[in-house]
Amino acid sequence: MSTVLVTGSSGFIGRNLVKRLLKDSIKVIGIDMEDNLFADSIDGDLSKNFTFLKGDLRDGNFMERISGDPIDSIVHLAAFTRVVESVAKPKEYFENNVVVTQRLMDMAVQKNIGKFILASTNAVAGDVGFNTITDRNVLYPQSPYGATKAASEMMLSSYRSSFGLSTVRLRFTNIYGTDMATKDSFIARMCKAALGDKRIAVYGDGHQVRDYIYLGDVLNVIRAALFKDCPEVVVVGSGSSISVNDLVKKVEQATEIKFEIDYQEAKKGEMKAVIVDNHSIEFASLDQITSLEVGLQKTWDWFKNYYSF
Ligand SMILES: NC(=O)c1ccc[n+]([C@@H]2O[C@H](COP(=O)([O-])OP(=O)(O)OC[C@H]3O[C@@H](n4cnc5c(N)ncnc54)[C@H](O)[C@@H]3O)[C@@H](O)[C@H]2O)c1
Repeated sequence: MSTVLVTGSSGFIGRNLVKRLLKDSIKVIGIDMEDNLFADSIDGDLSKNFTFLKGDLRDGNFMERISGDPIDSIVHLAAFTRVVESVAKPKEYFENNVVVTQRLMDMAVQKNIGKFILASTNAVAGDVGFNTITDRNVLYPQSPYGATKAASEMMLSSYRSSFGLSTVRLRFTNIYGTDMATKDSFIARMCKAALGDKRIAVYGDGHQVRDYIYLGDVLNVIRAALFKDCPEVVVVGSGSSISVNDLVKKVEQATEIKFEIDYQEAKKGEMKAVIVDNHSIEFASLDQITSLEVGLQKTWDWFKNYYSF
């Protein structure tokens, strides 16, 4: 049985990836500095294949503890993830997102680990205007957060060439879906506002376009990246972009709520558009990409249920 180390296993993607891998009878070691509050929702039989280690990956002693366990692959999701915060704390972002990635890769080389998968972002491409982002863009990140992912990607590239480590960089667009109450991203904020004061802040004029991909599709791509031959760089997006104003309308349709929109000054470091060419996910042979209408309905149903208790 294969053992996968998932860092950031208490986070939005991590806790859902853990459940998905356990369902597929894969052994998982999860690492996070936050508690794994989702453990109760893991089926009793499956939970015996899950080991959770609570700790901070910046702590060298904690790293020592992990390196004793047998591991076949690593999915490295743990990171600080807020663009605006990264502008205020570039050093902390560098230490947590880049230095930790490098140390984990050292461990992967020492332990002869089969595959090292990094959660990256299309923000590594920087502001390309309304041009399409592909898996071949030159990297010009605009925020320290984006820069930490670009720097980590470069370290992966070097470990691939220098040490033969099998590396994959998954460049996610905006991920949304069920179980995202902990997130502060736009769709999560709208769902919470629909259950609350019906007011939402939009930064800029709302004409900026974004690519949104449903969590279930992302989990399928990660699963495929672990066990199939896969390109080194994969753009994980739906391949279909929508303006923020149109997205608000779609969420209004799903929730049957009319929002009061508070337009505010655009945030520094925000991209004007995220339009992606996602042909690199073809290796994953997804049946189809979840449409925004279906994904939003599932997400909204989950939020209503979650907050009804
Ligand atoms: N969610 C998205 O839309 C999106 C888009 C692009 C890229 N990503 C990337 O995917 C990854 C996962 O995203 P997410 O949405 O699940 O984020 P999240 O913030 O929900 O989860 C990240 C988890 O990592 C943990 N963590 C951070 N630093 C740690 C450390 N030093 N030691 C131990 N644990 C640590 C946090 O406690 C948290 O539980 C991140 O690397 C993020 O940059 C996410």
